[in-house]
Amino acid sequence: MSASTVLERTAPLYQRVKSVIPPIEWPVFAEDIDAILTLKKQRNAVILAHNYQTPEIFHCVADIVGDSLALAREAMTVEADVIVLAGVHFMAETAKMLNPSKTVLIPDLEAGCSLAASITAADVRLMRQKHPGVPIVTYVNSSAAVKAESDICCTSGNAKRVVESLGVPEVIMLPDEYLAQNIAAQTHVRVIAWAGHCEVHERFTPAEVRALRTDYPGVIILAHPECPPNVIAEADFTGSTADMSNYVKREQPARVVLLTECSMADNVSINHPAVNFVKPCNLCPHMKRITLPKIRRALETMTYEVTIPSDIVDAARRSVERMLAV
Ligand code: 13P
Ligand code: SF4
Repeated sequence: MSASTVLERTAPLYQRVKSVIPPIEWPVFAEDIDAILTLKKQRNAVILAHNYQTPEIFHCVADIVGDSLALAREAMTVEADVIVLAGVHFMAETAKMLNPSKTVLIPDLEAGCSLAASITAADVRLMRQKHPGVPIVTYVNSSAAVKAESDICCTSGNAKRVVESLGVPEVIMLPDEYLAQNIAAQTHVRVIAWAGHCEVHERFTPAEVRALRTDYPGVIILAHPECPPNVIAEADFTGSTADMSNYVKREQPARVVLLTECSMADNVSINHPAVNFVKPCNLCPHMKRITLPKIRRALETMTYEVTIPSDIVDAARRSVERMLAV
């Protein structure tokens, strides 16, 4: 295929992302995008992409996009033979456990998460021993082995609902300490936390939020609940990546800041050209491991296939399914 044919074929996609991708970068993306669109048809594959994926992935090759909760829900209904998870490893594991007959590929096996890495299945067993009878609510940002030791999962989009659905005075919330503290501030349920942190959100500070308000008068500040509680206290709204995106859609603020991963504002801004996005952000090095060339290679070579050990898959799935039933 000649380069000019590829550029012609992908021109409508460029129109979509031109506000965040300079024209000089597009020809390199266009070649991979064109190849990926063909490979998806050949492999009968769909691409699920998290809100933190870069715009050329999110807007140009993904079939389903969203927050962790939406990706888990959508993974269950996929009918294609192959799911490529453009996101991090725990998301691919969740897709696999919810739709086990499909081939689930992750384009880079090293795409991890500092929260998932902060706790092991043995740690969860110790927490249970230390707090007998207290239910364990585990954030989906965790390995399948950790989910398998838990009673129920939650995401940033449903954590309060999940905690309150249990009808108990006290829960253990793993592994994100700040999410646990932020939920504790909204409910009467007592929360025992684990000291895991997201390396992206823990870097935001209250001083940064105050400086934004001084530099951009009237700016609306939205924060992800993985931010420290003293940052959340200074924000106008807190919610999952989908909640933040919906807030912008609903409220159409004149000027907004999303205290979260960098690609989020790029992706949302494409759909809301009238909103002015101030873009202080922190990069997630794990999310950024997923690139167009790696997605292309994943589909060409059918790697890397995500599998879950048979001795934990049923227990892990139960924790996720209990969450989805709430
Ligand atoms: P969401 O579920 O809000 O999309 O968050 C996932 C994540 O990894 C946040 O850092
Ligand atoms: Fe994990 Fe934080 Fe990256 Fe999300 S942004 S994948 S929580 S390290």
